[in-house]
Amino acid sequence: MRIFPGLSIVAVAAAVDYSQYVNPFIGGAGPYPGLAFGGGDIFVGGAVPFGSVKVGIDTFETNISYAQINGGWTPEGLVTGISMLHVSGTGASPKYGLIPQMPLTTVEPPVNVLDNTTYWQKRVGNDSASVGYYRTKLENGVSVELSATHNAGIMQYHFPAGDKHILVDVSHYIPNPTGGYASQTFQGGEISIHNATYSGYGVFGGGWNEGAPFPVYFCGEFDTPPSEVRTFRGPNTDPMTRIQGLSSEPIQQPMFHQAGHQKSGWSNDRIGAVFSWSNGTAGRIRSKVGISFVSAEKACQFKDREMTSWNLNNTADAAVKKWNEEVFEKIRVPTDGPRVNKTNLILLYSSLYFMHLTPSERAGDNPFWESDEPYWDDFYTLWDLFRCTVSLYHLIQPAAYERMIRALIDTWRHQGYMPDGRSGFSNGQSQGGSNSDNVLADAYVKGLRGNINWTAGYHAMLKNAEVQPINTFSHDDESASVREGRGALDDWLKVGYVSSTSTRAISRTAEYALNDYAVSVVAAGEAPDDAHKYLQRSAGWQNIWNEDVHIRGFKGFLAPKTLNGTWNLTNYDVLQCGVSDCGFLGYSFQTVPFEESFLIPMDMKSLIQKMGGDDEFARRLDYIFLPNTSAMDLGVNGADITTIMNIGNEPDFGIPYLYNYINQQYRSVNQSRALANQYFKNELYGIPGNSDAGAINSWLVWSMIGLYPITTQPIYLLESPWFDDINITVNGNATLRIRSSGDPMTLGQAEFFVKSVKVNGKSWDKNWLEHDQMMVHGGTIDFEVGNETMIWEKGDLPPSPGHITL
Ligand SMILES: *[C@@H]1O[C@H](CO)[C@@H](O)[C@H](O)[C@H]1NC(C)=O
Ligand SMILES: *[C@@H]1O[C@H](CO)[C@@H](O)[C@H](O)[C@H]1NC(C)=O
Ligand SMILES: *[C@@H]1O[C@H](CO)[C@@H](O)[C@H](O)[C@H]1NC(C)=O
Ligand SMILES: *[C@@H]1O[C@H](CO)[C@@H](O)[C@H](O)[C@H]1NC(C)=O
Ligand SMILES: *[C@@H]1O[C@H](CO)[C@@H](O)[C@H](O)[C@H]1NC(C)=O
Ligand SMILES: *[C@@H]1O[C@H](CO)[C@@H](O)[C@H](O)[C@H]1NC(C)=O
Ligand SMILES: *[C@@H]1O[C@H](CO)[C@@H](O)[C@H](O)[C@H]1NC(C)=O
Ligand SMILES: *[C@@H]1O[C@H](CO)[C@@H](O)[C@H](O)[C@H]1NC(C)=O
Ligand SMILES: *[C@@H]1O[C@H](CO)[C@@H](O)[C@H](O)[C@H]1NC(C)=O
Ligand SMILES: *[C@@H]1O[C@H](CO)[C@@H](O)[C@H](O)[C@H]1NC(C)=O
Ligand SMILES: *[C@@H]1O[C@H](CO)[C@@H](O)[C@H](O)[C@H]1NC(C)=O
Ligand SMILES: *[C@@H]1O[C@H](CO)[C@@H](O)[C@H](O)[C@H]1NC(C)=O
Repeated sequence: MRIFPGLSIVAVAAAVDYSQYVNPFIGGAGPYPGLAFGGGDIFVGGAVPFGSVKVGIDTFETNISYAQINGGWTPEGLVTGISMLHVSGTGASPKYGLIPQMPLTTVEPPVNVLDNTTYWQKRVGNDSASVGYYRTKLENGVSVELSATHNAGIMQYHFPAGDKHILVDVSHYIPNPTGGYASQTFQGGEISIHNATYSGYGVFGGGWNEGAPFPVYFCGEFDTPPSEVRTFRGPNTDPMTRIQGLSSEPIQQPMFHQAGHQKSGWSNDRIGAVFSWSNGTAGRIRSKVGISFVSAEKACQFKDREMTSWNLNNTADAAVKKWNEEVFEKIRVPTDGPRVNKTNLILLYSSLYFMHLTPSERAGDNPFWESDEPYWDDFYTLWDLFRCTVSLYHLIQPAAYERMIRALIDTWRHQGYMPDGRSGFSNGQSQGGSNSDNVLADAYVKGLRGNINWTAGYHAMLKNAEVQPINTFSHDDESASVREGRGALDDWLKVGYVSSTSTRAISRTAEYALNDYAVSVVAAGEAPDDAHKYLQRSAGWQNIWNEDVHIRGFKGFLAPKTLNGTWNLTNYDVLQCGVSDCGFLGYSFQTVPFEESFLIPMDMKSLIQKMGGDDEFARRLDYIFLPNTSAMDLGVNGADITTIMNIGNEPDFGIPYLYNYINQQYRSVNQSRALANQYFKNELYGIPGNSDAGAINSWLVWSMIGLYPITTQPIYLLESPWFDDINITVNGNATLRIRSSGDPMTLGQAEFFVKSVKVNGKSWDKNWLEHDQMMVHGGTIDFEVGNETMIWEKGDLPPSPGHITL
């Protein structure tokens, strides 16, 4: 393209359709071909950024012990429905998969609409998907296309000649393939048919966060009036022995009715409808479904207002426009010419896509309380997102991020605690600390104010810091609450660490320490008299630093201590978690103490001293990246990873960058590049573990733009960008421009070691910079790179603002 002088370059730039570089399948499988196990658990389907509705297929993988169906889509799973609500990237037990349609060519026996195994469908050919659009073809000959707006979905079916049916099973949800305590449950509902439209609600509970029941209202419509509609009902044989008396009975036959209305009643009967079209009807049938959590009327309004056309591609085009304008155009890299590496474009824009699927914005659509504050749901989880995702929201989505934080605070106001995890209007599960503290602190120290009531925000943090939540006796851990807050707070308040009588003593001590650091930085502005107290408490990790514990030539680690202060090293191993699944009941959660002992971002100075100084610190860091050193099989949270450092899970995200703290930035660049190149690919098995609401994808975005945030501190470590020119829209409308002298073709691969850096045109001798220097009014960072490693930074080390000598 020739650009003539006088033409607006901005207008040309804005016309780039970055959505074409998104591969919505990255993360769809793990190391076992054809299976989702160990992959990203991603959602594939129609969605807009942070949409409430995410429309996609639900599948069942019959190899139960390897089934991982949380995102709905799996590479080869059998299709059980096309449903409206999904989360993306979650592990543990599934949530959602609610309000489905299922296109069928027969409903005659052996099909039993109460038994999905009698009608589920293989897919034929390859699925195709792009931003806002998904298409598949079922073995019964029906092709399905779908797209979505914020609160509604649209489906277009092409049936082969013959009978056509669409099953609407209100009681459908994504099951937990292995059953068990955290399965979802259907707790009743209602459906009413009016000609070619239907509406009603279902009530659902349980799922990964063991959430309370919540209603989902729906309003559906077909473009072609059906020739017959039958409603049905049948006993709920949901295999939840503690809820359903009929759990051990075989699935029964439904009772069909001509009546246009069914309601569950107290026994939670399963209900639904079958819409049928005769042979004479054209093969194409289209449908729109609106979703609300408040009323069916509102669901109808969403559908009618957001989807004015029956042309599905109009909805898909609108979604593409929204994704480009609200997400992809925030980070602009060169897309034209021979010197462009398309793989890297795909990795960048796909990563941005996955980190904007959840959480879900549900403003004004919350059935549990009335408020003028925004409402957001599906935080999965702040334990994952605080590491580096929220800091990216801050840069490129400041308005949405402000609303998110207001919703976190409003959740405290109305339900007692801010969430760590939250879905379907319920808090849960908390894996360690109260990491909403870290999120609020990160926003606060970087100056996010807007309409956030920080007085209230600080009170919400104090609740986490001072009030142990009541025990809800979760099956995950019956010893204390894992729903919200800090379950081992009593220990922390009494002795300044989480004692070995509590579960997850090591990882919770490290997390509570950072949480209290977070409280201290907000206190510094909101309640200055409190700041010292929380800063002092943040040093609690030092109370369990055992300088005698040694392994493989390294000495000094976090170790379990009893309440009376004696060490409890029974069954303790620096390279183990204390339980085989590394779950809630061990002494360290989804990490071993070797990893956890690196996670003290607010006081790296003390940590490096305790590890024996710079050289020992570097030697230990080097070791954590060596293959075949791990002694713990982390299953889906680290499939095929044999280093102790686990890039497949969030806690270690910052570890590759810690060499910056000894002014050896080239080694951070080297380790982070090696991980990125080994584990992130434009393939189905393209991320090294659960996407966790895009947390893992945001890690890659930071690597690609050559920065890394230290959450709760207003600083960014400098690394090395993958592109020779990057413009990032920060703080709403300022531009941060990052350039590299490297050859754009090989920047991702070879020539990326930093020789010098200029910040706003002036040479810069530190390997970090401050938020205010760059992220408020914009600015420039220029990296001069080459293929030789060198120590270029002679300036001050990155700060340790929580430095305390106990
Ligand atoms: C399930 O998948 C695993 C991993 O691919 C495989 O080893 C196992 O044989 C499969 N089991 C069945 C019953 O297909
Ligand atoms: C509809 O078409 C199918 C397949 O072509 C045929 O088997 C069936 O008898 C037809 N039904 C009616 C009512 O015409
Ligand atoms: C499908 O049927 C199986 C067997 O009855 C059941 O376990 C599962 O919950 C059902 N639902 C889906 C969506 O797979
Ligand atoms: C059903 O819908 C069709 C097509 O929109 C319309 O012609 C018909 O009058 C409707 N019937 C009723 C009872 O509303
Ligand atoms: C809608 O878009 C898809 C994907 O780009 C395309 O295959 C299909 O032909 C389009 N349909 C219409 C009706 O334009
Ligand atoms: C970045 O912005 C500058 C200044 O507007 C412009 O010259 C350059 O082409 C932009 N680069 C990219 C990759 O958008
Ligand atoms: C901010 O929150 C505090 C604490 O809940 C409350 O007292 C105050 O009224 C709120 N301020 C505004 C402007 O809503
Ligand atoms: C010592 O640690 C073990 C776990 O390794 C734990 O089961 C036990 O309760 C601890 N004892 C005390 C007194 O803290
Ligand atoms: C501390 O507690 C442990 C475990 O309960 C016990 O074995 C030890 O004797 C206690 N030590 C003191 C000094 O009370
Ligand atoms: C840029 O954004 C700030 C903050 O939202 C706003 O005050 C300012 O008016 C905006 N400037 C332009 C030129 O849009
Ligand atoms: C583009 O980058 C990818 C990954 O970053 C790399 O594997 C590939 O070799 C590069 N392609 C070319 C043509 O340099
Ligand atoms: C760096 O590049 C130069 C020039 O291409 C080459 O001679 C040298 O061997 C390279 N050094 C390394 C460490 O790859």
